[in-house]
Amino acid sequence: MDIRIAIVTCSDTRDMAADEAGAALEELIRAQGWTVASHEVVHDEVDEISAAIVRAADDNRSNIVITCGGTGLSLRDVTPEATRAVCDRDVPGIAEAMRAYSMTKTRRAMLSRAVCMQRGGTLVVNFPGSTKAARECWEGIADQFEHAVSMTA
Ligand code: MTE
Repeated sequence: MDIRIAIVTCSDTRDMAADEAGAALEELIRAQGWTVASHEVVHDEVDEISAAIVRAADDNRSNIVITCGGTGLSLRDVTPEATRAVCDRDVPGIAEAMRAYSMTKTRRAMLSRAVCMQRGGTLVVNFPGSTKAARECWEGIADQFEHAVSMTA
């Protein structure tokens, strides 16, 4: 089963060339035989992130949008707020699973404010921004992506 996954990296300092975590996610998506629907880098601004989520979900017909970064406690971290602004329903179990798995790697995982929500049939998942953390979060939840996507079809 193909799954179309878009990546939206949220960072004031990174551009596409410097987006290592995004590149690692691209690799992980392709290693499953799934499709990278789109990949962009936007600033830590609610409007920019929300617009990128809408583009990724609606224009690029993604089954899943992974945002990367901007989930911490710094006042510039606004990815969960931008996600809530354009999504309909909470999917708390995925965020809980991600944090539970991440807590086995570092207790700093409790500092993530990440949310997982649905925008129509698209699942939007907030990942942390470091390459290591993004890989770990993928490890923690990606085995359920196929079933999650088949439930929204
Ligand atoms: N989750 C995993 N699996 N591994 C990590 O190293 N780092 C944490 C947390 N989640 C981490 C993690 C840290 S230190 C922070 S501040 C938050 O994610 C938020 O990261 P972000 O602001 O890059 O989104």
